[in-house]
Amino acid sequence: MEATPQLDPDLLDKVINLCKRRGFIFQSAEIYGGFRSTYDYGPLGVNLLRNVKQAWWRAMVQTRVDIVGLDAAILGPPAVWAASGHLETFTDPLVDCLKCKERWREDKINGVCPNCGSTEFTAPRAFNLMFKTQAGPVEGEGSTAYLRPETAQGIFTNFANVLSTTRKKPPFGIAQIGKSFRNEITPQNFVFRTREFEQMEMEYFVPPADAEQWYRYWIETRLNWYLDLGIPREMLQLHEHAKEDLSHYSKGTTDVEFFFPWGFDELEGIANRGDYDLTQHAKHSGVALDYFDQASGERYTPYVIEPAAGATRAMMAFLLSAYHEDVVEGETRSVLRLDWRLAPYQVAVLPLSKKPDLEGVSAEVLGQLSPHFMCDYDVTQSIGKRYRRQDEIGTPFCITVDFETLNDRAVTVRDRDTMTQVRVPIDGLLTHLRNATGQI
Ligand code: GAP
Repeated sequence: MEATPQLDPDLLDKVINLCKRRGFIFQSAEIYGGFRSTYDYGPLGVNLLRNVKQAWWRAMVQTRVDIVGLDAAILGPPAVWAASGHLETFTDPLVDCLKCKERWREDKINGVCPNCGSTEFTAPRAFNLMFKTQAGPVEGEGSTAYLRPETAQGIFTNFANVLSTTRKKPPFGIAQIGKSFRNEITPQNFVFRTREFEQMEMEYFVPPADAEQWYRYWIETRLNWYLDLGIPREMLQLHEHAKEDLSHYSKGTTDVEFFFPWGFDELEGIANRGDYDLTQHAKHSGVALDYFDQASGERYTPYVIEPAAGATRAMMAFLLSAYHEDVVEGETRSVLRLDWRLAPYQVAVLPLSKKPDLEGVSAEVLGQLSPHFMCDYDVTQSIGKRYRRQDEIGTPFCITVDFETLNDRAVTVRDRDTMTQVRVPIDGLLTHLRNATGQI
């Protein structure tokens, strides 16, 4: 067993506070008192979240010839969810505390009410987690629709479309990023478990005989994705589910777990879904969802290996693992050591003063860099304070334009982590930053 990582006991509060204070994440409908468990992503949060999704898309689609993308509808008819098994089995066991009347997920409370400590509850009832709504102006059976509780089903229902339009053959995958909705009984821990969240899912279709090998491959590949983006190894672990804990569709599931402030918890699940989904949709829709292998003359229903990650949950993990405090010149500085690919801003351009000629050169520097990097621009307060503000939001590079710049056409580039400063000619700035970020 590896040693459990030591975390600042106030880490969660500090990160939540930073998110609010600096505009990463706001409570939704805050001016109306907030809408429980929904969050809005502010100017910094939206950049970070987009970067998480972009890093996933790059790893899963852009750099691979065996995976294509998809963006399917969020609203779906009951038929899809009947076939997938969600209407019947996508439920949580719900209990009410007999003393304080609070409602809980039975499997999350170990028999003790987290609100009042009572151990007496109603018998558990199966509570379906899907949000039901109505499509069109006429209420009734025919207009019932559901908000998808996972992005995966849109991939399965488009299996034949993608197969015939892309000419892919197993092993191949279909990837999708998008919102999912679950009427969670106990949403909690900031954006860890919310009722509206974003998923990044990929369904990888393989010949049944190769399923186990691909299952192992995707566990390894997905773990490496988090490591590559800077989460320390000791904050990640793999957890293979016991057979009796598997979801209704799964032949095997391994979670990538992250060391959240309350302990190791799920970040992503990698499942061997077998031929469950394609078989179910073929049966319910009457459309054949299989693959004819011309080389072997064999027709078969592919097995599916599914790495299913939460984008919003991953963003929280990246924030938690990046948050550090260190002491600089007797003062505590908080710094987000985010990988440059994730940082909301990669570069901050900071003119030393508001003098027009400094702002003029700064505009030139911004014009040069902003097509390539997400740039912030800040002329307020002392330069030391501005550095701290950028450290706190994870900006890897601060570029200071000073009076000397007007003579030597060079600027100071300060590194967030080492705080070292180097003088770089404006004309070589782009190359310098590309080098520093390993792009050349
Ligand atoms: N298609 C399989 C599937 O949806 P899941 O384990 O239920 O599997 C995958 O969800 C990932 O989606 C989770 O590992 C988690 O990161 C994220 N996720 C699930 N429910 C969530 C919620 N209520 N809030 C935030 N993220 C959630």
